Amino acid sequence: MEVRVPLKVILSGEHAVVYGHPAVAAAVDMWTEVSAEPHDTTVISTRYFGFEAGIRVKRTEDGRWTVASEDLLDEFSYLVEAVKEAERMGADPDAKIEIRCEGPPGSGLGTSASVICGILVALLGLSGVEPDRDEIRRAVRNVEKRVQGRASWTDATVVTLGGVVKVKGDDVERLGEGIPGHVLVCYSGTPGPTARALRLVERLREEIPAIVDGVMEEIGNVAEGVSEAVIEGDASKMGSLMNVNHGLLSALGVSTRELDEIVNVARNCGALGAKVTGAGTGGCAIALFEDRETAERCAATLEAIGYEAWVVRTVSDGYRT
Ligand code: PMV
Repeated sequence: MEVRVPLKVILSGEHAVVYGHPAVAAAVDMWTEVSAEPHDTTVISTRYFGFEAGIRVKRTEDGRWTVASEDLLDEFSYLVEAVKEAERMGADPDAKIEIRCEGPPGSGLGTSASVICGILVALLGLSGVEPDRDEIRRAVRNVEKRVQGRASWTDATVVTLGGVVKVKGDDVERLGEGIPGHVLVCYSGTPGPTARALRLVERLREEIPAIVDGVMEEIGNVAEGVSEAVIEGDASKMGSLMNVNHGLLSALGVSTRELDEIVNVARNCGALGAKVTGAGTGGCAIALFEDRETAERCAATLEAIGYEAWVVRTVSDGYRT
């Protein structure tokens, strides 16, 4: 059983979406591939971009889960939680599962949601269970919530349904199949685990609630504007809003020196806009370009100064079997 699940970029609204404001995200053509075959216990091997050694998670005869180190088990607990969720949904968890992900873990590209989705669909498929996409979407979100403490519907929705999606609370609106302009994704070189970034914002909000709520409100307004720009096909407006969004995410403390550098280089290369994408504190930034050639040239410039960059296309559907 083989499953391909797209990764995603958040065009606008991360963090604020967890507090009920809107976010806009798109599925992109970077993939997680999950294969599963029957086995006498559960063994999961992973290969993420940039982490070629991978990690191996195994369930022992007495039902314990083992991994190379306890720290890693905490960081990759979503692998185990995804298997348990599949079991609750009627799957036999005994399988050899191999995961290959084109994004680095903690990159802000929805790697955990896409891996969870791949494990669920592969294990259920292997057992002949065929839930519909909405059940998978709900299950992905359940697992994320258990692991992260808080989780919006953004990643779970985009990796299962694909396209460009606006999320607000439980409401999901599909905005279309693609976005105006060309998106460059650039990895800052260090992971930014979602749970850690969420805690950082939560602590800031406890300290200065009115200010943080004001910033969140403004991020929500920006995301509404991005949603309109997607529908109107207005890349220039979208770029300007992305620049404002980056400033607001910096105000929440989730940008880093490297992410700011990527954003500035992209703007100097002619990007219409650039910002952190996903949880931040590491992970990736994205930039929007009018034409693909300029985006490709910018990717080469970023690679020349030591970053990994990809010019991506949006993907109109979610996971594929
Ligand atoms: O970094 P990612 O890809 O896990 O995205 C996280 C986005 C947040 O808004 C910070 C959290 C969420 O659940 O929406």
